[in-house]
Formats: sequence, structure tokens, C-alpha cells
Amino acid sequence: MLDTGGQYTHLIARRVRELGVYADVAPSDTPAAELRTRKGIIISGGPASVLEKGSPDIDAGVLHTGIPVLGICYGHQLMARHLGGKVHKGERGEYGPAHLTLACDDALWNGVQDSQIWMSHFDSVAAVPAGFRVIGSSEVSGVAAMSDPQRKLFGIQFHPEVVHTQAGRQILENFVFQICGANKDWDISQRVPIVEDQIRAAAGDRNIFFFVSGGVDSTVAYTLCLRALGPDRVYGIYVDTGLMRSSETGFVREIFRELGAKNFLVDEAEQEFMSALSGVVDPEQKRRIIGEQFVKVQERILATEHFLDGHWILGQGTIYPDTIESGGTAKADLIKTHHNRVAGIQALIDSGRIIEPLTSFYKDEVRAIGRELGVPEKFLERHPFPGPGLAIRCLCSEHGGSGTQTFDGVILPIRSVGVQGDARSYRNVLAIPELPTREHIEKTAPALANKRADINRVIALCGTKSPLASLHVSAAAITKARLDILREADAIVREFCEQTGFEQQVWQFPVVLIPLGTDDAGESVILRPINSVDGMTADVVLMKESALQQLTGKLLAIPQICAVFYDLTHKPPGTIEWE
Ligand code: XMP
Repeated sequence: MLDTGGQYTHLIARRVRELGVYADVAPSDTPAAELRTRKGIIISGGPASVLEKGSPDIDAGVLHTGIPVLGICYGHQLMARHLGGKVHKGERGEYGPAHLTLACDDALWNGVQDSQIWMSHFDSVAAVPAGFRVIGSSEVSGVAAMSDPQRKLFGIQFHPEVVHTQAGRQILENFVFQICGANKDWDISQRVPIVEDQIRAAAGDRNIFFFVSGGVDSTVAYTLCLRALGPDRVYGIYVDTGLMRSSETGFVREIFRELGAKNFLVDEAEQEFMSALSGVVDPEQKRRIIGEQFVKVQERILATEHFLDGHWILGQGTIYPDTIESGGTAKADLIKTHHNRVAGIQALIDSGRIIEPLTSFYKDEVRAIGRELGVPEKFLERHPFPGPGLAIRCLCSEHGGSGTQTFDGVILPIRSVGVQGDARSYRNVLAIPELPTREHIEKTAPALANKRADINRVIALCGTKSPLASLHVSAAAITKARLDILREADAIVREFCEQTGFEQQVWQFPVVLIPLGTDDAGESVILRPINSVDGMTADVVLMKESALQQLTGKLLAIPQICAVFYDLTHKPPGTIEWE
């Protein structure tokens, strides 16, 4: 995959791997000479215009190696332009579903018929290069697809990697197997022993230690090393920050026991984290302090456990998409600057004393490896959980105050984080005194968030012990007492979702505590069930009314909880987390 910056590049590579063929992603201008051993090359789509100076380009030699090339969208236009065809600036573009009409037989069309395709482009190919023929068209794009079977060059304007293109999988299959002659030999279960060999070779006679988070990536990476080197040589250290969900530390401990870990240490750091966070209200400051505290704790552990001695190397759960250059920097570097600023760890990385066994794999492949290694399913299918833990779900407020009644609802004097355009916002929350409905989620909340510049979030009232207008916000910081209330509420929601199966309908379900209530019960709970693919955007998921009423009743039974709300805000304009 030559990457021209498209958001779908990784999706195409994953689709090829799903066919059982290895694919990886390289910069678009990778020299043709470096691609000599490849069976086939795909040039991805991207957001730029080939007509603009400085837009991503390929080494034109790639089109003359004799290796089959498939250009997709932007890649299709690049191919046309490099070989003497014409690309026109679009006037209105073509976005969404379109109909593909095949113009003739082609190796790409084996088993394909006229059918729906997915378009997302502005420019288009107006004339194909010499030697090429038009093999398919759509309503707007004359040249929806072109090929030069002699030179094995193919271009398609539409996106075969998205499910909305009905024949997408078939077209990729035709390219990969019939045209490129690739073998179906990418099989995760066969990779496991190979990766274990690599771990043994890299470790030599040294031992490996991991800071494990309880997340899927670090646990699977740890387990691979455990299988490769045996339990005596692999250490896992888990830091209990006191910001975890109820029973989390016990759950992780149990998983590692089941995996056969012998050296699994839990570092009890709750006191350190709580005193560092005392009195902090601002969300970004919370994150910074938690990050710095992690560094301090890691430094302490490195020193007391002597992990910097020569016979230790560091293991990490970095996965493939983290290693890809984007905007000039590999994402793993960014992650490192965030999480691993510990000088000792940096020294280990700089001297090559690091093992990252998952850098070739996508998330779903990491889960498959986990399955292969016997990591329990209940662990592999867990919802994502943020590193700073419940701290960013325990909303704080510097000042107390009452809500402001407006025509649209009550503006609460607390602020949450949102994302509008590409910018972060930090604004008030609008509460409406009605149960959540589909209409609220699809129409009312987006309209209100657009209309009112003072809010970025809208919540609906599911139940309360006192009327909404009588509730007030109190000044509140992070305390163990508040975290304990949130932990209890979160555990109730989690158990309810497990029992009702709602857990499988959502990608993530944050439960947030806000200091809104009465003198007797000073806190409220916000339910935030969402669906998402990668966390970049998110849609609110509506719970059935009867289930919601039942859950609300359970939450209101907590003495300190005064009211329960439902977040109606998609991302954007809200973020998934409130802070
Ligand atoms: P937002 O709130 O930005 O969240 O819409 C998107 C996804 O990222 C997770 N998240 C975090 N994960 N450290 C993490 O490890 C963080 O500081 C953090 N903040 C948000 C969030 O849970 C969601 O899945």
C-alpha cells in the first residue's frame, strides 16, 4: 500500500490481510527499486488534489516495473496523470453511493456485475492514458474504472474497501489473486511461533519487563513473551493508581494468573496519585499530573527492581498503526513522548533494549493472536478504557452555583470538553427535563448545539430526587469519596449492561459524575453509551426506555446520587469523555 494520506489506507491493507495476503503500508514516494520484491502495489486514496503543487506523489518508476498496480481514487488519478491521461478539477464532486456500469470484460471484473459503489472525490479522470481503456462508468464519473491489461495497470475511482461498495471484496480478490498471483499464506495462527522465535532471538539471555495497563495490546505482547521465554524470565508490573474501575486490579491479577504469569507485581500507588491530584479542577492539568505521576512511579520501580541493569530489556505493546508515519512523525514517537518520558526508559529505547512483538499487526489481529495464546475472550473483547482512568470522568468545578433557566432548558454551571471543527471547546452543558428519545438525539441536540454558542453538550433527565430547577452545582475537586461514588455507579451500569446484553450494542459506555444535586444528595450521574469505529467520531446509542428506567432506579438508590442524565451529544460536537 502506497499511502497518499487517505483515512482509508489502513482499511485497504486490513482488507487485503483479511483475504489471507500480507500487506503493509509505505510512504507514497517509496522508490520503485525498494518495491521490486512485491507481488502487487496498491496506491491509496487521499484528500489532496493531483492538480495541486506539492500534493503526495509516487515514484513514476512504480508504473513501469511490470508488477501489477491498482490505483484507488487519488491513486487512480495519479496513475492517469503520470501516464499522459487527463485529470479535471471537479465542479461539484461525487460523494456517497453511485452505480457502477461495467463497460467490458476485465480481469478486475471477474464475478462482478453492475452494482452499487461508494464514491468520495472531487477531481476525476477525463481522458485515459494511451494503452488504457475505460472499463466502467458511473453517473458522474465517465471513467469510474480503467485498465491496461498488457501492463497490468488498473485504476478505480471508487472505494472497494468500504462495505457500501457491493463488489468491493470481489474486486480486491481479483486483483490480489488473479492479477498479482499472490498466495493465501497470511495466517495469524502460523505467525505466533515465528514471533516467538523472534522474541527469543532478540532477548538472547536477557529478561523482559513490561509495564502492563490491563489493556489488550500490552497483555497480548506480554503473553507472547511469556510463551517464548517462560514465566521465570518475564515480569509484568501493573500500577494501581486508585483511579481504576471497581475490581479492576483483582480482574487483571486473575487474568495474569490464568495466563501462567509468575512474576506479576501490583504497585499500590493510590496515595501518590491522590495527593498529586488534590484540589485540581482543570481537565488538562489533571491529565498532565497523572502523566507526570506515572513517570515518577515508573522511575521508582526501575530503581527498586534494578530494571536498568544490563540483563533486562523493556517490552511494549505497540501495534502496527502506531508505527506509521503520519504528518512526518511516527505515531509511536508521539505516544512515547506522552507516556514514556522516563529518562531510564528512553535510555533503554535508545540503546535498542526494547522488544515490541506486535508492531506488524492490526488490532483485530492482536485479538486473534490473543485467542491463539489462550487469553480469555472476556478480556479480549473489553471496551476501551482511558489511561487516566476515572479521574477524567469525575467532573470537578471551582465554583458552585445554580443553573440558568432558558427557553431551551437549564444551562448548568459546569463545563465539559467538546470538539468542533478541529478545535477543542470547553463549554457549559444544557439539560432538558425530558426522557431521551431518538428525536432528541437526531434533531434536538444537534440543533441546540449549533444554535447556542455557550454549550457543546445536551443531556436529558432520566430521573431525579428533586426537580431539575432546584438542583445546584457545588464546588468540587477529585477526592477518594467522590471516586468511590463514581466507582459504585460505574459498577452498577456495567453489571446491568452485562446482564441485559446492552454491552454488545455499544463500543464504549463512560459513566460520568458531576457535582450537581441538593444538600442531601450532591452528585449526579451521566450515562454516555456510544458507538464508534476508532473513537475519532461517535454516535449516541439509545437504550430502551424500560431498561433505562430500571437502571435509573438502581443508580438513584445510591444515597449521594440525586439525578441521572443521558448524554444526547454525538462526537462531534461532544467528545466521548467529558474531560
Ligand atoms: P474523546 O474523549 O477524545 O475520546 O472523544 C476518544 C477515545 O479516547 C479515549 N481517551 C483516552 N485514552 N488516555 C487514553 O488512554 C487519555 O487521556 C484519553 N482521553 C480519551 C476515550 O476513552 C475514547 O475511547
